[in-house]
Amino acid sequence: MRSTKIAVIQGDGIGKEVVPQGIKVVNEAARLFGLDIRWEDFEWGCDHHARTGRMMPENGLDQIAGHDAIFLGAIGWPTVSDVESLWTLLMPIRRNFQQYVNLRPVRLFDGVSSPLVNPGNIDFYIVRENNEGEYSEIGGRMFPGMDQEMVSQETVLTRFGCDRVMRFAFELARKRKKKLTSATKSNGIIHTMPFWDERFRAIAQEFPDVATEQYHIDILTAHFVRRPASFDVVVAGNLFGDILSDLGPAVTGTIGIAPSGNLNPERRFPSMFEPVHGSAPDIAGQNIANPIGQIWSGAMMLEHLGAPEAANAIVDAIARVLASGENLTRDMGGTASTDALGQAVADALSIHPLEARRHG
Ligand code: IPM
Ligand code: MN
Repeated sequence: MRSTKIAVIQGDGIGKEVVPQGIKVVNEAARLFGLDIRWEDFEWGCDHHARTGRMMPENGLDQIAGHDAIFLGAIGWPTVSDVESLWTLLMPIRRNFQQYVNLRPVRLFDGVSSPLVNPGNIDFYIVRENNEGEYSEIGGRMFPGMDQEMVSQETVLTRFGCDRVMRFAFELARKRKKKLTSATKSNGIIHTMPFWDERFRAIAQEFPDVATEQYHIDILTAHFVRRPASFDVVVAGNLFGDILSDLGPAVTGTIGIAPSGNLNPERRFPSMFEPVHGSAPDIAGQNIANPIGQIWSGAMMLEHLGAPEAANAIVDAIARVLASGENLTRDMGGTASTDALGQAVADALSIHPLEARRHG
């Protein structure tokens, strides 16, 4: 791997605590596997907003467009409205950089207890459409403050947008167990969801080797709880994908461990790697947040950058640390600090079996 340049946006709340742990572990993997990674900090977020009135500078996107990837913590703080903080920082990055796939692995690790009595072997991917759908600016408010006050918001699905995320999901399924589940609601939402189903069936024709199933979102959430081990790859639109990607990790014990990759598969723009969780104002500043979601996002970033061995080594190290039952943070039933868990993963890396062979 050539020298890579990563834009770091710690953002707000626990983002500032977990990002340093992610960087520490990725740096350790880089040292062990001979990768050259350079980090550049961008102090954007709600503090930046307090200082300047903006979440990021006006030319912010230009400043990071040339980086190889973006490593993000979390965005949002009670002092700034969500509409302002998210729609002038997170959403512009996802959209302008055409990060139309939000890839979110869901895995139950040994040592972390699921709220389910018999969870089985949970190991699947959610492929969430990340650029359109219900997250649309089309709509508005009329008669504000009056009795007949009304709002409307349009869901936007495009053929182009559905096809590209579905193709990504089918390709991923093809590399795994060749089974793809689609989340829909075409019995109740009568224009967009039947269109989603139509495109799903059309793209399925290109992948005759992949078995498909389609579920309405209501029963699919029930299946996530009743038989999570039966899924392999699940493709969903923006809102259903968002909901499923909190539910899936909750079933594996905690959303604190869940990572994500906002991917521009064509690599015309940098992709962005961030945990699924938010800035968690309620526990921020206490050094108790779970850093695994951020660390695992770092592994996804290395994989995307062409260093799969280093990525696998990090995921292995996470698995071994969690299985040991030591250094678990509060959300996993332990008492360890954010720093201690991050350090434990960094330490576990250097005894990775592959690594031991290289040096042994
Ligand atoms: C996520 C988050 C965001 C989303 C919020 C913060 C807008 O929940 O990344 O899952 O809905 O995409
Ligand atoms: Mn979410």
